[in-house]
Amino acid sequence: MNIKKTRHKSSGKSAGQPKSPRLTKADKADRHALYELSVQSTEFEYEFIDKQFKRIRGRKAKLLREDFCGTAQMCCEWVRGRRSNHAIGVDLDPEVLQWGRDHHVHALKPAEKARVTLLQEDVLKVRTDPVDIVLAMNFSWQIFEQRSVLRDYFASVRDSLTEDGIMFLDCFGGYDAYREIEEKTRHKGFTYVWDQASYDPVSGHMVCHIHFHFTDGSKLKKAFTYEWRLYGLPEIRDILLDAGFSNITIYWQGWDKNDEPDGNFKPATQGDADPGWIAMISAEK
Ligand SMILES: C[S@@+](CC[C@H](N)C(=O)[O-])C[C@H]1O[C@@H](n2cnc3c(N)ncnc32)[C@H](O)[C@@H]1O
Repeated sequence: MNIKKTRHKSSGKSAGQPKSPRLTKADKADRHALYELSVQSTEFEYEFIDKQFKRIRGRKAKLLREDFCGTAQMCCEWVRGRRSNHAIGVDLDPEVLQWGRDHHVHALKPAEKARVTLLQEDVLKVRTDPVDIVLAMNFSWQIFEQRSVLRDYFASVRDSLTEDGIMFLDCFGGYDAYREIEEKTRHKGFTYVWDQASYDPVSGHMVCHIHFHFTDGSKLKKAFTYEWRLYGLPEIRDILLDAGFSNITIYWQGWDKNDEPDGNFKPATQGDADPGWIAMISAEK
């Protein structure tokens, strides 16, 4: 099942109408920019995959494929990082890819631009040159709700990798992940709302929305909607092994002085029974 997106309806009036209403902050908001500010950290992603690839393979990765690339922010981060870096971004949605071209690719230097390719394709079917890394972030791979389809996706990722290639992905869980709850995070000028709208324990199917609330009281409701199956780490490890990957490593975060996750993900064979956790995973070909 695909991630469904609901577009915010503009309240702009058509030509000929006498008076345009005052636009609210929600009317003027750019949902992709707000999304990136709220949930993405491409600096972290770059450092993490670069460091772990070097640690595991003893060489630097060059060619990255970012599956479910969305605005391709990570592809652009990657090509800015080193002159030898190339990136391929894959996403089904032409609108988000165009946003990425207009905002991120456009801002690159000409030599960097030449090292980014964006493909409007299905990650299940796309065929690319052998890549060192395939990255699938923000739990996007959970749209494959049937285990056999997820296995096929992982197997095709494995086929796309160089002989020593590695797939990196993330996963979330904890007992709060099964609850129908909202979590609010304040940012400068807006509040990001993560809404776990429904969870079905029989199928594992969950529906989540992202809403944005603004200081003038206006709201951008259901800026993004995701329908996916909530998988667990042991299950993912098994499916990656079924797909032919060999070493699967789970990376768990430590805690800082304030008992907050410290963003430092290290290989782990055991985790904590936290209410909400995010883990990173690497799967070696
Ligand atoms: C949650 S966003 C991820 C954006 C970004 N990679 C991130 O880390 O935040 C998921 C993206 O996956 C794309 N998508 C969903 N199904 C897909 C498929 N089968 N093939 C390629 N892209 C897909 C959607 O269009 C959307 O842009």
